[in-house]
Amino acid sequence: MAVPDRYSADAAEQIFKEGGNAIDAAVAIAFALAVTYPDAGNIGGGGFMTLYVDGKPYFLDYRESAPLAATRNMYLDDKGEVIKGMSLVGYRAVGVPGTVDGMWQAQRRFGKLKWKQVLAPAIHYARDGFVVSAKLQKRRDDAAKDFAGKTNFDTYFGDLKEGVNFRQPDLAAVLERISDQGAKGFYTGKTADLIAASMRGHGLITKADLAQYKAVWREPVQAQWNGYRVITAPPPSSGGVGLVQLLKMKADLASDFKGVPLNSAQYVHLIAEIEKRVFADRAQYLGDPDFYKVPVAQLIDDAYLAKRAAEVNPGAPSDTKSVLAGLGTSMPEKAETTHYSVVDKWGNAVSNTYTLNGAFGSGVVVDRAGIVLNDEMDDFSSKPGTANMFGVVGSDANAIEPNKRPLSSMAPTILTRDGKVVLVIGTPGGSRIFTSIFQVINNIYDYDMPLPDAVAAMRFHHQLLPENTIFWEPYKPIAGELAQQIEAKGYKLEGQSFNGDIQVIRIDGGKPDAAADPRGRGVTRVVQ
Ligand code: GLY
Repeated sequence: MAVPDRYSADAAEQIFKEGGNAIDAAVAIAFALAVTYPDAGNIGGGGFMTLYVDGKPYFLDYRESAPLAATRNMYLDDKGEVIKGMSLVGYRAVGVPGTVDGMWQAQRRFGKLKWKQVLAPAIHYARDGFVVSAKLQKRRDDAAKDFAGKTNFDTYFGDLKEGVNFRQPDLAAVLERISDQGAKGFYTGKTADLIAASMRGHGLITKADLAQYKAVWREPVQAQWNGYRVITAPPPSSGGVGLVQLLKMKADLASDFKGVPLNSAQYVHLIAEIEKRVFADRAQYLGDPDFYKVPVAQLIDDAYLAKRAAEVNPGAPSDTKSVLAGLGTSMPEKAETTHYSVVDKWGNAVSNTYTLNGAFGSGVVVDRAGIVLNDEMDDFSSKPGTANMFGVVGSDANAIEPNKRPLSSMAPTILTRDGKVVLVIGTPGGSRIFTSIFQVINNIYDYDMPLPDAVAAMRFHHQLLPENTIFWEPYKPIAGELAQQIEAKGYKLEGQSFNGDIQVIRIDGGKPDAAADPRGRGVTRVVQ
């Protein structure tokens, strides 16, 4: 397994030792992280799970949905302008949480253990506490500044300090109700009463919203690439489509990449050219498939992508407006989601990415329940052409409608070869998610790098807007001669505070190898 913290690794180890499979372990990890990784692990958010079980691919969408009372212009003022921060902080930013029903459905369908067994580690951490790491305290301190005076965040997380044994008794009681009653212990009864009571007079979510929420099994996006079958996230994520587009266009441009050193200025330019086209499609065509017909097959069609790849200018950046007309944007810097990868001895695999959106979500904590609530409503396009937290724009495809799911970039991915799992991968990072996964896959298979090096290597990002801007990350900044060479090609370089956190398992010749991103606090573990 490759997971975001050591407590979730201990939880999964316990589950494997009790005879559980990868799905049991994945569900136990999700609940454990809701306690020990409260900046992104959650029961108040949502996510996506890509599974490979008994030789077959599956995909579970447990993304949050817009409340029934949500409206298209709910974040606009009288003049039709976006009210800054309203979709990011506080009660009105919250979508109806999907994680508990997602975990319930996954475990009911494919798990081997009793439901109570997979909840037990999380209940233990909530009731008895866990020791807070320096990285978690830093995330808390940063988030607390954004929430100060706006939410009740400090009532619950004011005492979260490095080295302290942090207990969450209210959350433990909620987890016990979920353990006793299944998903009903969250979506109905006392927990639902507490969520609705917290919202009353502040936000939109009611007991009716909670009672009707259902996770959805969807067909994963699948594509052949380089001898592998890529199994990844369909809409309402843009991540899987984007990843396949990146992989295939790069393959189409093999002659342009020939002899180009990895992460050189020319390499960065060619990848940015591909990314420009991927993000143009994302802005135009991607949204919730239950509300908008997303042309997935056309977007990943070989002939279409060969045509798009042929538009790439190997010599200079293509004019942004010729790829898509739009306004330049800046990107506020925060991005919090988390990913883990699990395989078991039977050859099953789970790739799971779930999120509260920003670190600690909306900053709202359900009174007397300790549930951190998401700010996933920001992933909708509040106003066509205006950027969200990740600096990405959208169109009608991603406009707000009651019960609709906001467009995501999460891309929990599995690669198989000859019907066997060979790679399980994912990361947080908003719009950086699929460009990061793409770079690591590329490092492994096209540049033959050992797994830890492929994960640790420099990553960069371009997303059409802001115009000709390459984002670099603090872990491996782009500086010196490389920076000058990229700028000489006509790009601006911009730092971001966010790093990504890849958790990946590779199985080569039947032998598993795993890597947790050195940028995060993740661990890998093989349970004998
Ligand atoms: N909230 C980040 C994403 O879903 O892509």
